[in-house]
Amino acid sequence: MLPEQVITLPTPRLSGAVSVEEAIGTRRSIRSFDRRKLSWEQIGQLAWAAQGITGDDRRWRVAPSAGALHPLELYVLFSDSSYHYDPVTHSLRFHQTVDLSEVADAALKQPFIAQAACVFAFSGRVTLTAKVYGERALRYVCMDLGHAAQNLLLQAAALGLAGTPVGAFDDAALRFALKLSPGDEPLYLVPVGYPK
Ligand SMILES: Cc1cc2nc3c(=O)[nH]c(=O)nc-3n(C[C@H](O)[C@H](O)[C@H](O)COP(=O)(O)O)c2cc1C
Repeated sequence: MLPEQVITLPTPRLSGAVSVEEAIGTRRSIRSFDRRKLSWEQIGQLAWAAQGITGDDRRWRVAPSAGALHPLELYVLFSDSSYHYDPVTHSLRFHQTVDLSEVADAALKQPFIAQAACVFAFSGRVTLTAKVYGERALRYVCMDLGHAAQNLLLQAAALGLAGTPVGAFDDAALRFALKLSPGDEPLYLVPVGYPK
């Protein structure tokens, strides 16, 4: 069966039952997931928390970015396919077929990654930030990434989900597994699912 090319995500909620203090206080890296899938509401909420748009144009987002350049790209990986998140239309567009166990292997063989309901993969275009900030670009992209990833982790905690940031991987192997285009550097994986 051909994968759906574009998935329009449900409108994200701007309020919830869990306070930001509770989300901060309960967030934990958990590496064991049960088999339940996430709903499109949950997936959309998580993607929005990481990179959603909150202002008049694409420069104003949930997370700060040096110069409002927003060099990060966000992909959502399922068992056999990856989707690129488009913050402007709040939708997922089919990117490539993927093998989650290859992704877990590229992350220095961390098998729990392949057991998550889905994996959020951040990549970044350092050259975009470098056009304005030169040698400080990598530092700034990493700072952008920390803001965005923490939003995602806190949103997962608020939804009662488990998420763990993963930064240990072989760059070339992960770039290959994610089928990223040149200049789009793999930066972080965040497997998310229901905690076991
Ligand atoms: C930059 C970074 C890279 C990380 N890489 C991994 C990783 O590759 N695998 C993993 O299981 N956890 C990884 N973690 C999660 C840490 O192990 C975890 O945050 C730490 O043990 C503290 O636990 P807590 O997140 O529950 O507070 C990483 C965390 C950070 C900030």
